[in-house]
Amino acid sequence: STSIDHAIAAFRDGDPILVHDAADREGETDIVYPAGAVDSDAVARMRNDAGGLICVALSNEVAEAFDLPFSQEIIDHPTAADHELGYDERSSFSLTVNHRDTYTGITDEDRALTITELATAAADPEGFDFAGQFRSPGHVHLLRGAPELVDDRKGHTELGLALADVADLPPAVVVCEMLDDETGRALSPVDARTYAADHDLVYVEGREIVEQLG
Ligand code: 5RP
Ligand code: CA
Ligand code: ZN
Ligand code: ZN
Repeated sequence: STSIDHAIAAFRDGDPILVHDAADREGETDIVYPAGAVDSDAVARMRNDAGGLICVALSNEVAEAFDLPFSQEIIDHPTAADHELGYDERSSFSLTVNHRDTYTGITDEDRALTITELATAAADPEGFDFAGQFRSPGHVHLLRGAPELVDDRKGHTELGLALADVADLPPAVVVCEMLDDETGRALSPVDARTYAADHDLVYVEGREIVEQLG
């Protein structure tokens, strides 16, 4: 079986996987969880072992149902007028949110609650009162996936959502970049593979996801 099969099995078990996008894109490895499987220990692992930004990617369909825009389109400030990125056409950033039952929103428990409730919302968006359940701004960054996922865009946003889709899980995945504590730069693929082996996690290349699920 391929590493994609192992990644699907891990997702179905609620385990995280590591996804490297591409050397000629961000060149980052994100730890990726199905949102419904995230608890406070998982949030602690992301901030301690990964160290990047903790984001929840939602499918285009779910974002549409909840009227979640791309940040770039709603920030009425010159900083957003020209949103040039070195590695892609556009960012997938949407709003930041906290679940309304959180206090500060940043604690491991608060972020875990926000994240698992986002999975609940994504599982059955029809009739879900998004604004009644979440407030903005908050401490969890939402990302909005491209409509055709990896056929449109090959970011961690779409790579993670493509895996959730094939695993028959709600279209809500958490992504967090792995950074190198020594250099402060993206963790190298070699070191990311070592982390995966040491922690019994599946490591996949974005290219494998694109080839098999695109
Ligand atoms: C947000 C990011 C991450 O790289 C995340 O993986 C989402 O972005 P993309 O879909 O462009 O890879 O920058 O922390
Ligand atoms: Ca660390
Ligand atoms: Zn990324
Ligand atoms: Zn990034």
